[in-house]
Amino acid sequence: MTRWSTLLLDEASLAEMPDLPVDQVLRHADLVTAGRPKPQALYERWEKQQWSARAIGLERDREAFEKEISPAARQALTDQIATFITGEYTGLDLLGPILTGAPEEVDHLYLGTQIADETRHTQLMLRFGEELLGLDPDPKRMLVQAWNMVTPSHRELSTIEADVVQELQQHPSDYRRWLRAVTLFHLITEGVLALVGQRAILNQLHGTKALPGVKAGFTAMCRDESRHVSFGLHALRQGVKEGYGDDIREMLELSAPIALGIDHGDRPEEHTGDPTMTDLSVHSLRRQIHLIGLEREFADHLVTISFREPAADEAAGAADAAARA
Ligand SMILES: [Fe+2]
Ligand SMILES: [Fe+2]
Repeated sequence: MTRWSTLLLDEASLAEMPDLPVDQVLRHADLVTAGRPKPQALYERWEKQQWSARAIGLERDREAFEKEISPAARQALTDQIATFITGEYTGLDLLGPILTGAPEEVDHLYLGTQIADETRHTQLMLRFGEELLGLDPDPKRMLVQAWNMVTPSHRELSTIEADVVQELQQHPSDYRRWLRAVTLFHLITEGVLALVGQRAILNQLHGTKALPGVKAGFTAMCRDESRHVSFGLHALRQGVKEGYGDDIREMLELSAPIALGIDHGDRPEEHTGDPTMTDLSVHSLRRQIHLIGLEREFADHLVTISFREPAADEAAGAADAAARA
């Protein structure tokens, strides 16, 4: 039995990643974020945690993807990869204004590393799209194909993200707008959706030797995400301390219900007794709200509004209208 330590994933090479115990990989980000690392420490981790998206061999994976895994598993993986093709490219695209608007030099220096990471993630997802899913090798056409495969909620969240970042682009030194963009990008998209999505894929592949390239790639991305989410939590913790909690709360009220409802989109979740994607997302959201210094009651409120029936929404809207009249 291997003793649990963050060092296992922190220091693993790409070749070692497919064989790491799955629980070590799944718990890694929680441990890193709990340490509340500052931007300079995250930069130093990044220097030690380089990997190559081109070096991952996919021949064995391609064969298994076509012939060995079940049609249901293939479909689930196809949907997940399409989501990551869109998500990684969108991440790369939208991070530029967040880098430009960074309030402090140390934030700027860290965000440069994240742009490099998102470029590498996009390169890897384009390879998965072409070599496993058989999508068009031209990124411009593949992105359209992938966009058409993702759930409507994912598209809705991407559109809100583009609006929020565009607003920041027009007001690059507005700290308030920067915090709103970081809330949506780092806390919701990365800390809830990407981390939970990566963990779900790794959990699903745990126990199979058939897809070593996919496993190595998502493990390396999971390790990178622990730094990205840690940075977001650091930035938002500062924002809360400096009195911008309401801006962060407002962005969370807008985006959390979409993020938490995302897997109810097109396909109902299976209830097997294990935590569902939604359970994991709620857990991740609550944990991060705690880590940035917002109240537990606010986390409860977000969960309540996220799962309120549409009828209750209408009733609440009517009550609000009556109160205003
Ligand atoms: Fe990424
Ligand atoms: Fe990321």
